[in-house]
Amino acid sequence: MRRYAPLLLVALCAVGAVVVSCVGASAWWWGAAAVLLALTAAGLWDLFQRRRPVPRGHPLVGRLMYRAHVAELHEDGEDGDEFLVPSMGPVEPAEAEPRVRVGGPDCALPYDMALLNVSALSFGALSPNAVLALNRGAALGRFAHDTGEGGLTDHHLRGGGDLIWEIGSGYFGCRTSEGDFDAREFADKAALPEVRCVSLKLSQGALPGSGGILPGAKVNAEVARVRAVREGETVVSPPCHRVFSTPRELVLFIGRLRELAGGKPTGFKLCVGSRREFLAVCKAMLAEGVTPDFVVVDGAEGGTGAPPEYTARLGLPLTEGLIGVHNALVGTGLRDRIRIGASGRVATGADIVERLAQGADYTNAGRAMLRALGCVGAGRCHTGTCPAGIATQDPLRTRALHVGDKSRRVHRYQRDTVRGAVRIMAALGVTEPGLLGPGHLVRRTDATRVRSYAELYEWLEPGELRAGPPRSWAADWAAADPDSFS
Ligand SMILES: Cc1cc2nc3c(=O)[nH]c(=O)nc-3n(C[C@H](O)[C@H](O)[C@H](O)COP(=O)(O)O)c2cc1C
Repeated sequence: MRRYAPLLLVALCAVGAVVVSCVGASAWWWGAAAVLLALTAAGLWDLFQRRRPVPRGHPLVGRLMYRAHVAELHEDGEDGDEFLVPSMGPVEPAEAEPRVRVGGPDCALPYDMALLNVSALSFGALSPNAVLALNRGAALGRFAHDTGEGGLTDHHLRGGGDLIWEIGSGYFGCRTSEGDFDAREFADKAALPEVRCVSLKLSQGALPGSGGILPGAKVNAEVARVRAVREGETVVSPPCHRVFSTPRELVLFIGRLRELAGGKPTGFKLCVGSRREFLAVCKAMLAEGVTPDFVVVDGAEGGTGAPPEYTARLGLPLTEGLIGVHNALVGTGLRDRIRIGASGRVATGADIVERLAQGADYTNAGRAMLRALGCVGAGRCHTGTCPAGIATQDPLRTRALHVGDKSRRVHRYQRDTVRGAVRIMAALGVTEPGLLGPGHLVRRTDATRVRSYAELYEWLEPGELRAGPPRSWAADWAAADPDSFS
C-alpha cells in the first residue's frame, strides 16, 4: 500500500487546500489547491491507464522511475563488430511469415515454429498476469510460448497460445512426492491440446551445473502448490536429472517423453560446455536410432537470477555453442531431422538473421519479451518487488501489468521483429531462412579487416565425422562415449 501513499497524501492535501480556500483564506490557497488537484488527477490517470505498468503500480512517483530506466534498455543487442552482408541483387520480402517445421521421423504431430518465440520463463519467477499476457500474445501471433521449468499452470492455459512444456530437473508439474519424474501425470498434461512440444531442460545460460533458483519471497501458496514444494522456502532445482545419467539414457528418455506425449515434438535445451559431451549425445542418438526433434542452444550470456560471476563465464557464448551444435549434427548426418533453436540476447530482426546464418532454424527471446511486457530493468526480480508487476507474486504489484494491453504489445513486438528479419533477409537476397549461411555474416577481426563467418569457423560436411573426422575434431570424436558424460 505504501506505493499509493504519495497519491493519497496529495489527494488529502488537495481536499484540505480546497476547504481552506472556501472558508475565505488568501487567494494563494486557490493556487495551491489547483496544483494539488492537478497532481491528484495525474496520479489517478497513472492508476487507471493501461500502457505503462510502473506508473500504474506507483501512481505519481512511477513516472520518474519509468523515465530513469528507458534509456538503458535500448543498448542491448547491438554489436558494432559484426555485419550482415547485403546483396547487390536484393529480393522482395516474402509476404507470408516463414515457419519452420519441427518434427523428426518419430514425431507424429509436427509443429510449425515461428522464427521468434517466447523463451522459457517460469511461473513463480513471473507473475500470473505476466504469464497470461505472454500466452495471449502468443495466441494473437501464433507463435510458441515456453512454460519454463516452473510447471504448466492455468495461467499458461487460459490464453489459448501454443505451449512448449519445459521439464526441468525438479520435474515441477509431473513430480512424485519423492521428487522423481511422474510418467502418468506427465502423459495427462502433455495430452492437452495447448501443449504442442515438450522440452527437457538440461541447463540454461549462466546457470549450467546448478538448477534454477526461486527465492522464498516468491514462493506463495499457489507457486508452492504448482511446484509441490513448501510455501516461503527457496526452491533450488537439483543440478542434474534423476532419470538419466549418461548420454544414452538421456536420448532414451527423450524417446520415452515423446511416446508419453503421444508423438509431439520433443527436444532438449542446454547451454553448451564441452564439445566432446555433445558428440557423446550424438553417438548415443546414432547407436539407439532415437533423435530429439529439436535442440535449443542457450548462450552463457543468458538472463537469470544467477550469481553475477556465473553470467557469461560459465558455458559457451551463443555463437560458439550454436556453431558447435550445428556442426556436430551436420557432421554426424543428423542435422536433417533435428531443428536448432537459439536463445541469448535475441531482440531484433538482425539478431534473428544473424543466428539463422550461424546455424539456427528459429530463435527464442526471454528478456526482450519481458521488455515488451513493460520490464524496466529494475533489477529486483529476486526480491518479488518488481515495479512492473512482472517478476512478483504480490497481487497488488501484479495489478500494474494490464494483461490486455501487454498481450497486444507482446504480439506486436514479435510480429514487427519477425517482419524486420524478413526484410533484412530480402536485402541479403535470401527468399527463405533455410538459405542463410555463414557467408552472410562478417566480423571485424582488427582495425582494417573483416572476415566472413564462412572463413572464420570450420564448417563440416554432412556425415563427415562418421566418414572420417577432420584433425580438429578427431580427438573429441574419438573420446566421445555414449555411456558417459565425463
Ligand atoms: C525471469 C527469467 C526466468 C527464466 N526461467 C527459465 C526457466 O524456467 N527455464 C529455462 O530454461 N530458462 C529460463 N530462463 C532463461 C531464458 O529462457 C533464456 O534462456 C535466457 O534468458 C537467455 O535469453 P534472453 O537473453 O532472450 O533472455 C529464465 C530467464 C529469466 C530472465
